[in-house]
Amino acid sequence: MSAVARALAPDDDVLAGLRASPKRLPCRLLYDATGAELFEQITGVDDYYPTRIEYRLLDEILPSVAEDMGAAARVIEPGAGAGCKTRRLLRALYAPASYVGIDVSREILEQTHRTLARELPTVDVQTVCADFTRPYKLPAPRRSIGKTLAFFPGSTIGNFEPFDAVMFLSGLAHMAGHNGRLLLGADGTHDPEALVRAYDDSDGVTAQFNLNVLDHLNRTRGARFDLAMFRHRAVWNERHSRVEMHLVSQREQTVDVGGAVIHLGQGEPIVTEHCYKHSVQAMRSMLHAAGWEARQVLTGTEQPMRLWWCAPLVRPVQTRTGL
Ligand code: TRP
Repeated sequence: MSAVARALAPDDDVLAGLRASPKRLPCRLLYDATGAELFEQITGVDDYYPTRIEYRLLDEILPSVAEDMGAAARVIEPGAGAGCKTRRLLRALYAPASYVGIDVSREILEQTHRTLARELPTVDVQTVCADFTRPYKLPAPRRSIGKTLAFFPGSTIGNFEPFDAVMFLSGLAHMAGHNGRLLLGADGTHDPEALVRAYDDSDGVTAQFNLNVLDHLNRTRGARFDLAMFRHRAVWNERHSRVEMHLVSQREQTVDVGGAVIHLGQGEPIVTEHCYKHSVQAMRSMLHAAGWEARQVLTGTEQPMRLWWCAPLVRPVQTRTGL
């Protein structure tokens, strides 16, 4: 394809983002094989608190989750990653029947498929390689199943813009069905110091993770980003209640992105990800708008990272007076 044709391709969110102001790159670029591995490393870094808090909350909530789900559950997990939390969940449930993991990274997905199928031989493991923010087809269950549980941990809901988050959660409600359940991990931390430390860790793993986006474009799009000319930066945006991931251009430069020319000023950021931090109220109303009702909310003590246990919202039947 010529550079012009590529530049005009209607679904080219990469070039569109790099030409917008402020510049943006789609966050799926973070999760290639290298990115997925780096992200697994981030979850073990001391400064990154959400994972360790969520594990504690999971251990606390799983007995009642198992009780409510009953036998033969189906678990659906968008963004399965390495499947560490999945394993804990599946082990806690009573004879789960089916698991569907969706992930954009094929390498990680295949690895997770293999380990889960080996460790949990009685569960029918299915995987879908897809960007879960875009439409994808869910495979039909291959055996009879009980309730369906949508599992969405890791504060990934905070990576959606608020309106998109509601649409996504309502998609999960549709997927899980009228007797479905949702187990959601969402961070409500508003402490700027803790947040910047978590998203710009002193080991530099998050910086590597963010910079890998440029490397990803170099490998897959014939781009020529010089990684040494960019710095990772995490910014707390109080007004929007979100942490922003930036890649800041260290000087004025022109970069060839597969034949298209992108100009960057000195100090100009490219935004790669937003991490919204939802208060209890904000999350509750988003869930409500998406057709979910929180039945149980657990909050961490170190920071207000939360687990939300939800069931379909039962809307009151409209009664008309005078009839
Ligand atoms: N869902 C994770 C979060 O918001 C994703 C994440 C962690 C992330 N660290 C990051 C995304 C750094 C971009 C950059 O906590």
